[in-house]
Amino acid sequence: MWLQRLDIKNLRNLVDVKLHPSPRLNIIEGLNGSGKTSLLESIYLLSCGKSFRTHRFSNLPTQGCDWMGVYGKISGKENRIISVGLEHRNGKNFIKAEGNRLQKASELANYLPIVVIHQESHRVFTQSPKYRRAFVDWGVFHVEQNFLSTWQYFSRTLKQRNAALSQRNSTMSLDHWDLALHQSALLIDDFRQEYLNKLIPLFNHYAAALLSIDDEITIEYKRGWSDKEDYLSVLNASIGRDRLLGYTQKGPHRADITFKVCGVPLHEFISRGQQKLLVCSLYIAQAALFSKLTGQASLFVIDDVTAELDNLHVDNLMKVLNGLEVQIFVTTPDKLLVDSQLFPETKMFHVEHGIVTEVV
Ligand SMILES: Nc1ncnc2c1ncn2[C@@H]1O[C@H](COP(=O)(O)OP(=O)(O)OP(=O)(O)O)[C@@H](O)[C@H]1O
Ligand SMILES: [Mg+2]
Repeated sequence: MWLQRLDIKNLRNLVDVKLHPSPRLNIIEGLNGSGKTSLLESIYLLSCGKSFRTHRFSNLPTQGCDWMGVYGKISGKENRIISVGLEHRNGKNFIKAEGNRLQKASELANYLPIVVIHQESHRVFTQSPKYRRAFVDWGVFHVEQNFLSTWQYFSRTLKQRNAALSQRNSTMSLDHWDLALHQSALLIDDFRQEYLNKLIPLFNHYAAALLSIDDEITIEYKRGWSDKEDYLSVLNASIGRDRLLGYTQKGPHRADITFKVCGVPLHEFISRGQQKLLVCSLYIAQAALFSKLTGQASLFVIDDVTAELDNLHVDNLMKVLNGLEVQIFVTTPDKLLVDSQLFPETKMFHVEHGIVTEVV
C-alpha cells in the first residue's frame, strides 16, 4: 500500500497542500517551523485518525479556521485506488473511506497501516510500560485477526471485575469474571509472545546493521503475571489485595518488555544517538515483520531523520530503509544531510511557511 496523493486543508500552518508522493522515498525538507512535522501529522491522521502530537483535535485547524481536512488516494492491493478522508469541524470528526462514512477512526488502520518514528518515540524505551504494550499490540493487531476482539473482550471483563472490586463491603463472587479473564488473558499472552518471538531476531538484525554496541542487548517479555503460575490461581490468590485496591493488579494489562545492556536498562546505558538508532531498529523490524507476515507494505515515516545522528549513521539508516521496499517519508531541516541518490525513486519536497513544492 502506498499514498499516491495527499491533499491537506487548514491543518496547522498547511492551508492548502497538494502532494503526489513517490512510492519509495519522499524527503521533506525546510527550516524550523516551516510545516514538515505537520505534513507527517496529516499522513498519520489519514492512517489511523489520530495525531501523534495532540489528543485535542481543536488545536489542529489553522488559527482562525473552524475546520480542517486531510484527503488521500491510496494505491492498494492489485493497484486498486482507495479514497480516504478525515475532516474535523464543529468539534466532530468525519471519516470516510471508499465513499462510506466510518464510525470509528480505528477502522482507517486497515486501509493505510503506518509505522511512525517521531520526537517522542524514544519513550518506548524510557517511559511507562503502556508505550511498549502499544508498540507490541500494533504489530499483533495487524497480523492476528482475533487480537482486537479478544483484547476488547478482556478489557470489558476487566472493567466489570474492577467495578465489582471497588464496591465497598462486597463479597460478590468474582468467579464468572475470573474465568472469562483467564481465557482471554492466555490468548493475548500467546499472541504477544508469538509476535515477539518473530520480532526480536529482526530487531537484533537491524540493530547490528545500524550501530555497533559491544555488549549484547537482552530483551525479556513479562506477561503481567508470574510465568510459573496459572492466571486463574493468580486472580484467586490476589483477591484480598485487589478488593483493597479496587482494581485487578495482575494480567496482560500489566505486561511489559525490558531491554537491558549489561543488566542495566538500555536507555541508562547507551548514548542519545545510539538510542535513536535502536528506536529505529525496533520500528524498522516492526515494518519488516508486517510486510513478511501480511504480504503487504506499511508506510514508514521518520520525523527529523537526521537529528542526533552523524553522517555515517544517517547513511547507514537510509541504506537500511532502502532495503525495506516500502513508501517512506522523512523530514530534515537540511537536505544536504540525506543522500537522496541512494534510492531508486526519490522525490524531494521543500516546505516554506506552510507552502509545499516539489523540488525537481
Ligand atoms: N493551529 C495552528 N494554526 C497555525 N499555525 C500553527 C498551528 N499549530 C501550529 N502552528 C505552526 O505551524 C508551524 C509548523 O510547525 P511544524 O512543527 O510542522 O514545523 P517543522 O517544520 O516540523 O519545524 P521543526 O524543524 O522545528 O521541527 C509552526 O510555526 C507552528 O507554530
Ligand atoms: Mg518538526
